[in-house]
Amino acid sequence: MNLEKLLSGPLKRVNPRLAGWAYSGLRRIPRVRRRLEAEYDGLVAGMEATVKPYREELTTYRRLPDTGVDRIELLDLLADLAAREEPGWKEGFASGAVYHGQHEHIAFLSRVAALHSQANPLHADLWPSATKFEAEIVAMTASMLGAGGSDDEIVGTVTSGGTEAILLAMKAYRDRALSRGIKHPEIVAAVTAHPAFGKAAHYFGMKLVRIPVDANYRADATAAAAAINRRTAVLVGSAPAFPHGTIDPIQELSALAATRGVGFHTDACLGGFVLPWAERLGYPVPPFDFRLPGVTSMSADTHKYGYAPKGNSVVMYRGRELRRHQYFTSSDWPGGLYYSPTLAGSRPGALSAACWAAMVSIGEQGYLDATTRILETAAVIRSGIAEIPELSVLGDPMFVIAFGSDVVDIYRVMERLSERGWNLNGLHRPPALHLAVTLRHVADGVAQRFVSDLHRAVEEVKVNPGGVGGSAPVYGMAATVPARAVVDELLERYIDLLYEV
Ligand SMILES: Cc1ncc(COP(=O)(O)O)c(C=O)c1O
Repeated sequence: MNLEKLLSGPLKRVNPRLAGWAYSGLRRIPRVRRRLEAEYDGLVAGMEATVKPYREELTTYRRLPDTGVDRIELLDLLADLAAREEPGWKEGFASGAVYHGQHEHIAFLSRVAALHSQANPLHADLWPSATKFEAEIVAMTASMLGAGGSDDEIVGTVTSGGTEAILLAMKAYRDRALSRGIKHPEIVAAVTAHPAFGKAAHYFGMKLVRIPVDANYRADATAAAAAINRRTAVLVGSAPAFPHGTIDPIQELSALAATRGVGFHTDACLGGFVLPWAERLGYPVPPFDFRLPGVTSMSADTHKYGYAPKGNSVVMYRGRELRRHQYFTSSDWPGGLYYSPTLAGSRPGALSAACWAAMVSIGEQGYLDATTRILETAAVIRSGIAEIPELSVLGDPMFVIAFGSDVVDIYRVMERLSERGWNLNGLHRPPALHLAVTLRHVADGVAQRFVSDLHRAVEEVKVNPGGVGGSAPVYGMAATVPARAVVDELLERYIDLLYEV
């Protein structure tokens, strides 16, 4: 679902005074708060039909059914829902989202997960296979990302996704900083770094210092040097960053971090399983991994271009000392000795088994082939966009291609593309869209279909610049500080809505 599209309608109806109230101290006055709540309720009501399409049609379980529903009936229902939702991602209309998606691959991973459905890596004694899988997932990922190039040992853990990998790395840096007497540790990251760094700062009581990007959308190293201070625990670089798919100057940034005695995290959640193979294929990939001595930790998502099922990622560290700051142990609990390497306690061994099986079954040659196809398709899309005079590609991307326009309203272009089934990511600051190219896009004709639909969408917006809808209001509001309070509150209510039955 395109969140911006969903929110744009309600936001257009926002009472102009609301933004002022939401931002100011007035919102704490009970009478004003009640007015605000009523206003938000009205705005959210309009979203329900889109968010809950099955409400009218299917049985809603507000409590357990008296007796269990027949398994065959349930399997039929689940198969029907999966089939209905498949066209949204299968035919390559979505940006990112599904990175592999080929039928045999899915069937294989589902079989592996079914075989290990009871496994819980927390019980290493009962399921030693789970610990074998996890140790090898980390080792294979680290070896792909420059481990072994120095005497330093590269270690890590499996996590549930990129966000957890980032949270854990930031927690490790926080605890190391605290142990060194830094009372209020800080993270320095570019404005384009993933929101998971903001989430880490929020969860772990750290300060996130945002630095700007340069004209090519890469973290500004001069600003990074100025932002590092006595409290800095870690400097962050992305390879690449989600918005524009551009790789930060990791060599420069990590050397800066080393000189200033702070940690450096390369967020390769998106690129970790593409860039090593791109480099081998001869693409000009700037250094970004553990071969750089200043890189002290990395995150790389097995559940993106590693082609594992969702719920998998890897966080890695230079040396065991840093990894230990991630762990939790308890020796005084009446329930016995307890340990937990990551955020969750019990964990799904099925996912680790499937991740391991994905990696081992694909192998280096499989990743090289996949990367070749993705980068070739991305090049077709990139040059197709560049040929549309009203559009310009932002930065110098490889497989996540962002583009904007000085001529047409790019959000109206997004609307026109949505009408043709495309589900792109809207960006702001500056207004732009991006397409993350995956194996869903490499089939014959998909890139060509995208470029020709984009052509037509731009032509339509030129002829009819006003049109209907458009997500511009959302980005317009999110760009001003007072109105952002309204957008943030609406996002919270959107989450509430997701959990309404
Ligand atoms: C660069 C980058 N870092 C981190 C993440 C967070 O990953 P996840 O959604 O798996 O938590 C993403 C997700 O797209 C990303 O692109």
